[in-house]
Amino acid sequence: MKYINNNLSVEKIKIEDIAKKFGTPTYCYSYKKLKDNINNFKNNFKSFSPLICFAIKSNTNVNLIKEIRKLGLGADVVSMGELMVALKAGIEPKKIVFSGVGKTVTEIGFAIDKKILLINAESKSEIVEIERIAKSKKITVNIGIRLNPNTDAKTLKQISTGKKENKFGVDEKVFFDLVDYAKLSKNIKLKCLSVHIGSQILDHKPYKKMLNVINKIIKRSNYNFEFIDLGGGMGISYEKTNKKLNYQKYNMAINKFLKDHKSKIIFEPGRSIVGNIGSLISKVLYIKENEKKDFIILDAAMNDLMRPALYGANHKTLPVIKTNQVSKKIYEFVGPICESTDKFTTLKKFQKLNEKDLIVMCDTGAYGMSLSSNYNLRPKAAEVLIKGSKINVIKKRQKLEELI
Ligand code: LLP
Repeated sequence: MKYINNNLSVEKIKIEDIAKKFGTPTYCYSYKKLKDNINNFKNNFKSFSPLICFAIKSNTNVNLIKEIRKLGLGADVVSMGELMVALKAGIEPKKIVFSGVGKTVTEIGFAIDKKILLINAESKSEIVEIERIAKSKKITVNIGIRLNPNTDAKTLKQISTGKKENKFGVDEKVFFDLVDYAKLSKNIKLKCLSVHIGSQILDHKPYKKMLNVINKIIKRSNYNFEFIDLGGGMGISYEKTNKKLNYQKYNMAINKFLKDHKSKIIFEPGRSIVGNIGSLISKVLYIKENEKKDFIILDAAMNDLMRPALYGANHKTLPVIKTNQVSKKIYEFVGPICESTDKFTTLKKFQKLNEKDLIVMCDTGAYGMSLSSNYNLRPKAAEVLIKGSKINVIKKRQKLEELI
């Protein structure tokens, strides 16, 4: 996104034109940025050409996933819905992995029937269930076991998943038991060790630690894993001050690991693929003056973008038309929902705003639309994908009739 003649634009399209044509709030994605992110991701790890499975949970738009598939990625899914959307987008089953701590019988059966690459199991009970279903279908199913490496990802506690107090994966002892169990089974074939220690990770050191842990465990288990699934979690810069993940160092650590293990690496990135391709366009409905600050009441709310309310996340906010007039008041950007947590950000010295002005909240391509809800019976926003000078509506705004 950049200003062209003071008009914030995505590729060759003015955001103002998107708002005029499709209304607000609207999520807007850049195809070019998507392509760049995927190419960069591939380049960062090209020495061992991993299987890159896009974490569908970060953005579930079928039309966007189709583009991601055309750029060569597979999918990481965590529910039957996500598996269905991945298949509908044309992703080959042999490029799909299924994670999650609570897969139902129906979900497991569906995944088996679709012959996906791996079901990454997260408990002994789940493995027994997969085995039982596979036996009833008289087939052998390829599985992975998710290890909890008890590694601190040094990220927000709400999005940390790799410590022993987290519900994810199994500990070392159970892991060894399960490897032995799988060896004796006729209906499950253990092919993968998987891990995922958390999200929005900006320091390569937790990844290095995680690799050391799995290196030791694989050696002790004396088992040949065809795949090692390292999960996702690669962070992005939401603010200028944010440091960047050092991919080179992460890549080096993986290369070192691969000297001892001849396995195919799988990644499950979400945010690093789609986070910075999207922004949420919103209109100022009202400006309410308050003693210390002005409330900028937007037409987007926490149901459209949950991250600030849920994690205290801050998304860079920009005016769509730049004027260079600075406000003397502090602005608190809020939505219309009846909750005090329906608040996006508080900013000093923002450009002076008027009612009906447009703003965007940046870097909302991951866990923006996918976390949205119909709270307060608000219809979900529209989604558009910009490709050069073309605007493609990839999801229409939800209609109230669909909800009531
Ligand atoms: N694999 C597994 C097993 C996961 O649980 C996740 C994310 C990913 C891959 C993708 O992680 P990523 O590359 O996107 O960091 N709603 C939160 C993020 C929750 C992440 C959940 N799991 C947020 O908005 O920050």
